[in-house]
Amino acid sequence: MSPPACSSPIDMSEANAGPGKVVVNRAMSVDGFIAGPDHAMNWIFEYLDNNTFPDVMPATGAMLVGRGTHDVGKRMVVEDVDDYEGGPVFVLTHRPPPEPERGVTFLSCGLEEAVATARAAAGGKNLEILGADLASQCFRAGLVDEVLVYVIPVLLGDGTRFSTSGLGRIDLEPFDNRQSGGVTLLRFHCRRDKSADPSIAP
Ligand SMILES: NC(=O)c1ccc[n+]([C@@H]2O[C@H](COP(=O)([O-])OP(=O)(O)OC[C@H]3O[C@@H](n4cnc5c(N)ncnc54)[C@H](OP(=O)(O)O)[C@@H]3O)[C@@H](O)[C@H]2O)c1
Repeated sequence: MSPPACSSPIDMSEANAGPGKVVVNRAMSVDGFIAGPDHAMNWIFEYLDNNTFPDVMPATGAMLVGRGTHDVGKRMVVEDVDDYEGGPVFVLTHRPPPEPERGVTFLSCGLEEAVATARAAAGGKNLEILGADLASQCFRAGLVDEVLVYVIPVLLGDGTRFSTSGLGRIDLEPFDNRQSGGVTLLRFHCRRDKSADPSIAP
């Protein structure tokens, strides 16, 4: 199995898709889960809304979402959750629905083409990648510039982990950490040097 790789911002800006970054954006429990048992997400919205870190949303121009995340989002009935105005939403799936869905573009192309398509729609702003499986594939393909984590002050014990098993080691370079209420924002650049080096043990 080839080692996972991460791109640098310089690599992505050379990809002819505008200056926006590809950002894996996550709310995560202190014990490393991005969803609780049965894909529970309510623990996030008890702490986080669009005003918690108001600079993040305006920097986002589009979202690329895994089908799993899209399906959970459709099932969720969450009161008091702000609409997330992150621009056009693209859902990557092997099985697009027969009927179109309002506000969503389903993509069934390869991963790199999907990222390029969504980046092009982001109008020079950042592209957010949502979904554990999808994000792990993007890390492995070297398509991620930045990781943004909202650490929620809760232990969940079980659920969907930040990364899928087998992803391996990804080295990150911290560049921002802030607190707002109970939530800690951590931001990292992905580092190509160590991440892409197969001689470094996971
Ligand atoms: N805490 C947070 O901030 C946060 C953020 C996002 C998601 N989540 C949670 O994470 C969970 C979902 O994550 P997940 O890892 O299970 O699923 P996911 O990454 O959202 O979606 C995986 C699915 O996307 C499709 N897919 C992925 N890669 C593809 C490719 N290369 N080509 C075509 N289709 C592809 C496949 O669906 P098909 O079978 O349709 O092909 C695959 O089963 C949910 O509970 C969600 O609420 C949490």
